[in-house]
Amino acid sequence: MKNKVQGMSTYKDKIDLTRVPTHIAIIMDGNGRWAKERGFDRIWGHQQGVVSVREITEAAAEINIKYLTLYAFSTENWERPQSEVDALMELLIDTIESETPSLNKNNVRLMAIGDLSRLPKKATEKLQHSLDQTSKNSGLSLILALSYSSRWEITNALKNICKDVSTGKYGIDEINDELVREHLTTKSIPDPDLLIRTSGELRISNFLLWQIAYTELYFTSTHWPAFRKESFYEAVYDFQQRERRYGK
Ligand code: IPE
Ligand code: IPE
Ligand code: MG
Repeated sequence: MKNKVQGMSTYKDKIDLTRVPTHIAIIMDGNGRWAKERGFDRIWGHQQGVVSVREITEAAAEINIKYLTLYAFSTENWERPQSEVDALMELLIDTIESETPSLNKNNVRLMAIGDLSRLPKKATEKLQHSLDQTSKNSGLSLILALSYSSRWEITNALKNICKDVSTGKYGIDEINDELVREHLTTKSIPDPDLLIRTSGELRISNFLLWQIAYTELYFTSTHWPAFRKESFYEAVYDFQQRERRYGK
């Protein structure tokens, strides 16, 4: 009876398991509003958002998604009030520490993209430990975007490509799609098939701009702390109803 509500079928039952998206990326938005609407502090919303992270990671593994990228903290988020930034960093440290055993148990490999050098020392240490501990896992790859922004990533790629050209590693005419891709932080990860944004905002907020060229977009008004397994399966089901043409 696990996925049945009084005999009603759920979105999970409707999903065609033979053609699930390989990579799903999520802009986890709305923690603050969700908490405020309930008369609580924004931080409480972030704490409840961690429960959704756990649920969605599990949900993705259950239907054999290979890559799940979660936008957890953007470059611009450093400009939030210091108290909120501190609370988010603390939550990050605690969550990585407490969740690593269950990542291992579920064969999940943790990965991270973004300007990790800006994270507090303790966060980098815990993160590195968890990355090492889970690096051999062969199930779902869970990619956390931390201190990430697409413009930061593309600017960095440009700098590195310019360096290579100036040292003669390759010429300007050899720069193509593939070479640019190899200079992004996502170089070992296929482009997302589906991008989900919660909380009703219809924007991308500096996330994976290069990588989402042909990604299917899904927006829902549900706030992140309320976005649980069934909402996730609904998004996957919606994706499966679409026809991808890639301009052809
Ligand atoms: C998403 O929720 C979490 C982060 C960006 C860190 P928000 O904190 O953006 O919550 P809202 O969008 O203000 O409600
Ligand atoms: C995007 O959400 C960043 C993350 C979810 C980490 P924001 O709340 O920061 O984006 P804006 O300000 O609504 O565009
Ligand atoms: Mg927000």
